[in-house]
Amino acid sequence: MIWGAAAVSLATLGVGLVLALALRSLPTVRMQLMGLATLAVCLPLAAVLLSGWVMFHMGDDVKILAVSAASATAAMIGGFVLARSIAGSIDRVREASIALSHGDLTVRAPESGPAEVADMAESFNEMAANLEELFDARRELVAWASHDLRTPLANMQAMLEALEDGLAEPADYLPALGDQVRGLTLLVDDLFELARIDAGALTLELRASALDDVVSSCLQGVAAEAAQRRISLDADVDASAVARFAPEKVERVLLNLLVNALRHTPSDGSVAVRVEPDDDAVRVTVEDTGEGLSEEAERRMFERFWRADSARSARGAGLGLAIARGLVEAQGGVIEAENGPQGGAVFTVRLPMVG
Ligand SMILES: Nc1ncnc2c1ncn2[C@@H]1O[C@H](COP(=O)(O)OP(=O)(O)OP(=O)(O)O)[C@@H](O)[C@H]1O
Ligand SMILES: [Mg+2]
Repeated sequence: MIWGAAAVSLATLGVGLVLALALRSLPTVRMQLMGLATLAVCLPLAAVLLSGWVMFHMGDDVKILAVSAASATAAMIGGFVLARSIAGSIDRVREASIALSHGDLTVRAPESGPAEVADMAESFNEMAANLEELFDARRELVAWASHDLRTPLANMQAMLEALEDGLAEPADYLPALGDQVRGLTLLVDDLFELARIDAGALTLELRASALDDVVSSCLQGVAAEAAQRRISLDADVDASAVARFAPEKVERVLLNLLVNALRHTPSDGSVAVRVEPDDDAVRVTVEDTGEGLSEEAERRMFERFWRADSARSARGAGLGLAIARGLVEAQGGVIEAENGPQGGAVFTVRLPMVG
C-alpha cells in the first residue's frame, strides 16, 4: 500500500512539474495565472482521488467529485479575476508606452496594481520625465542658438543694406562688421565644441604635467583687461602638483572662468587663481570679489545658454560654463561653484592627480 501512495506522490510531482513548465509557453500572463490556479487545485485533488482509489477503493465517491469540482471552479474564477486585474495594470503601462512612442511626452502610467507592476510603472514614468526634460532642453537649445545667430546676422544685413543704399561709407561699418563676424565665429565654434562633447567625439591629448604654464598663459590673456579695470590678478600655483589633463582644453576652461570673474568683479576688486593638491586631485580655484552667485545662478549656470541678466545683452552666449563642465568631465575631473566667505564666486576644478 505504501508503495502505491509513494507512486501516486511521485507521479503527482512529475505531472505537476511538467505541467508547470508547459504553462510557461502560454502567451499571456492572464492565461498563465489561470492555468496555475487550475493546476494548483486540480492536481492535489486528482492525487487525493487517486490515493483514495488506490488505498480505499472509493473512486466512485460522488461527494468528493462534487467538492473537487466546486473548488476547482472557485480557483479558476479566482485566477481569472486576479489575472484580469494584473493584466489590466500591465495594459495601462503598455498604453502609456504606446502614447510615449507616438510622441506624447507628457503621458504617465498610473503607479498602482501589484508591487512589480507599480515598480515598472514608476521606472517608466521616470524614463518619460527624463525624456521630456531632454526634449525641452533640446528645444530651448535650438531656440537660443537661432536667436543668438539671428541677431548678429540681422545687424550685418542692416549694415550691408545701408552700404548698398549709399547711406554710409564702408569704413564706417567695417569694424562693426568684423566684430559681428568674430562673435558669430565664436558662437559657432562653441556650438561645435558642445556637439563634440555630446557625441563623445572630443580629441583629448592627455598629458601628465603641472599647471603653471596653463595658468600663466591664461593670466596673460586677461592681464590687459584686468589692468584697464584696475582689478588685481593674483596667482598661487603649487608647481609640484602634477595632474593628467589636456592642456588646451584646461586653458579654455580656465580662460572662461577668468573672463567670467573679471566680468563680474567691479573695478578695484581682485581675482585669484590657486592651484594645490587635494587628496587624489589637483584643485584649481578661481575666486573673485564680485557680486557672487544668486540661488538661481548656482542651480543653473552650467546649463547651455543660461545667463543671469535677463536682458541677454550680448556679452556672452552663456555657453562657457556648459562647455567647461563637458571638457572637465571628459578628462575625469569635476567642476563646481559656490559663494566664497567674502561673498564673491569661487569656481573649483578638480583634475585627476598623477603620482
Ligand atoms: N564669477 C561669476 N560671478 C557671478 N556670476 C557668474 C560668474 N561666472 C558666471 N556667472 C553667471 O553664469 C552665467 C553663465 O556663465 P557662462 O560662462 O556659461 O556664460 P557667459 O560668460 O555669459 O557667456 P560665454 O561664456 O558663452 O561667453 C553668466 O552669464 C553669469 O550670469
Ligand atoms: Mg563665460
